[in-house]
Amino acid sequence: MRVCVVGSGGREHALANVLGRDADVVVTPGNPGIPGSVATPPEEVDADLFVVGPEAPLVDGLADRLRSAGRRVFGPGADGARLEGSKAWMKEVLVDAGVPTAQHGAFTDEAAALAFLDTMSDLFVVKTDGLAAGKGVLVTGDRAEATDAVRSYLSGDSFGDAGRTVVIEEGLSGPELSLLAICDGHTAVPLAPAQDFKRIGDGDSGPNTGGMGAYSPVPVATDAIVGSLMDDAIGPTLAALRRRGIDYRGVLYCGLMFTPTGPKVLEYNVRFGDPEAQVVLPRMASSLTELLAAAAEGSLDAVPAFAEGAAVTVVCATDGYPASPRTGDPIHGLEEANAIDDVTVFCAGVGGSDGRLMTAGGRVLAVTGQGPTIAVARDRAYAGVNAVSWPGIQRRTDIAAAPTPVDAAD
Ligand code: AMP
Ligand code: GLY
Repeated sequence: MRVCVVGSGGREHALANVLGRDADVVVTPGNPGIPGSVATPPEEVDADLFVVGPEAPLVDGLADRLRSAGRRVFGPGADGARLEGSKAWMKEVLVDAGVPTAQHGAFTDEAAALAFLDTMSDLFVVKTDGLAAGKGVLVTGDRAEATDAVRSYLSGDSFGDAGRTVVIEEGLSGPELSLLAICDGHTAVPLAPAQDFKRIGDGDSGPNTGGMGAYSPVPVATDAIVGSLMDDAIGPTLAALRRRGIDYRGVLYCGLMFTPTGPKVLEYNVRFGDPEAQVVLPRMASSLTELLAAAAEGSLDAVPAFAEGAAVTVVCATDGYPASPRTGDPIHGLEEANAIDDVTVFCAGVGGSDGRLMTAGGRVLAVTGQGPTIAVARDRAYAGVNAVSWPGIQRRTDIAAAPTPVDAAD
């Protein structure tokens, strides 16, 4: 089978790598660090299956355009992608589906938004309704900062039109989990759970990023817990989408928190997580190609299998990320890192040419280590990380150092 992966980041590199176990893969546009990258636009690629990686083209209707040209596509149409394209709409779907989530309000009017903020204490959560490249969420204990965010989001100053509606939420606390489910419109099957690290600095300090590392499996997410999340969150959400006439074929990425009053869904994304994909997909023991093709056909009939053991990925970012990433530095040590047993380097913000790769984005590489335990996988990932370098490289030193214990969900 020939598969076309659409996108250019570390997630797409991981998809291509794992699909490549039993398929011919092209990636568009990819990047110079991803084998099989082509500049041909997806509409002009000849493939048996299209896998759309990022949210922006999904929200923009790429899957619809490919489907109407008769292509087999893994990825929701624009109607389903609205789950990620509008947080206010996602919340409506969650409430309709009866899925536990943070109390919230959605506002376009500043006075109403600030009045709602006044009903909160301790932790203030302000989100842009629209897509903001992972940067539109502020979680702060500082009311003044939350007030400023409401004003700058609504005025369009911070995020343009994406912020002209804001969602304000009750602040929750507890360990987080990323549960990715593969959906064929009617049925959903879970992938192995992962946990990601969103803040730039060790000890979860500093601003939120796209994700600085991840690990899988997650001790807290036992099979029983995953089963109940499928029954109580993913299943009802897919049914609520169907009630709206939406045939959702793609990944439903559920970001949730184990709060003292039970698990609550923080968000849905309509794509594989990045860097969750870089730990979940390499652990697959059954065929990813067959799984995604079956979901695209609307005929999922098998539950994916995962290898025993663990994977840990550590993101290497550029100086200044996330605020103002410096780019254009040569990347050293990539081959050395890839040569380490059970280490795979996934290329994200990578430019230049094959012979001389350069940093070209905030998150440049995700270095994945695999092993029998999280601790061994972690050691391997960091051995890979220590082999790569460029001036001002940033990476956390505490990814998967203290996996959330099993009893955290009690
Ligand atoms: P989101 O993109 O909505 O998942 O938000 C990004 C991150 O912000 C989440 O992974 C959480 O760490 C944090 N977050 C989002 N919503 C809340 C909330 N209601 N309470 C506390 N933290 C939150
Ligand atoms: N790692 C978080 C995300 O992909 O949104």
